[in-house]
Amino acid sequence: MLRVLDHPLAAHVLTLLRDETTKPAAFRTLTHQVTLLLALEATRDLATKEHPVRTPLEPVTGRALARGLVIVPILRAGLGMVQPFTDLFPDVTVGYVGLERDHTTAVARNYYCKLPPLAGKRVLVVDPMLATGGSAVQALDVLCEHGATELGLVCIVSAPEGVAAVAHAHPGVPVFTGALDRGLNARKYILPGLGDFGDRLYGT
Ligand code: PRP
Ligand code: URA
Repeated sequence: MLRVLDHPLAAHVLTLLRDETTKPAAFRTLTHQVTLLLALEATRDLATKEHPVRTPLEPVTGRALARGLVIVPILRAGLGMVQPFTDLFPDVTVGYVGLERDHTTAVARNYYCKLPPLAGKRVLVVDPMLATGGSAVQALDVLCEHGATELGLVCIVSAPEGVAAVAHAHPGVPVFTGALDRGLNARKYILPGLGDFGDRLYGT
């Protein structure tokens, strides 16, 4: 259930994101770019239905998206991945789950939750970093409790530990990631990773 982006532009953008000299303004632009690629991958199998239109020359039976899409960014770093989805899918609805890892234990604490109706929708959790997987699993748990049945997880950089945790807790949930890195350090940061995504995105 793991799909890693395989595109030269993704590799190029990820390398610039990893570069410690990349400043927040460029970091936000690069986040936008790689998320566009991820959004296309994560929505490749969205259902469509027939949609007849007239070209200037003749009628044609085209296709239209058939079902609603919901994205749920995990605050705060996930916010950097929202706009690429809303650009591509103007009718998307957006829910929010606020989770923050404790700096010493790396265990995430839930501090906010605001969700649209989820039943019958494709629901994509978006969070740039999948490290221990604790945040992603908590978010997926919350969404299941609120009626989501067709879930996916979209990340920019993942660690094998996080992928395994999600696969264990939510075996049917596909994970779309820009890169699968080597592992975690003692403080549960991804190696080589790119550091603290939220701090780099917002210059904190
Ligand atoms: C980061 C990241 C994920 C989480 C990943 O958020 O955006 O949500 O860590 O780590 P995990 O897989 O071990 O749970 P963080 O808690 O630093 O909060 P922030 O987005 O507010 O910076
Ligand atoms: N959160 C981050 O922002 N970076 C990591 O490497 C791990 C968790």
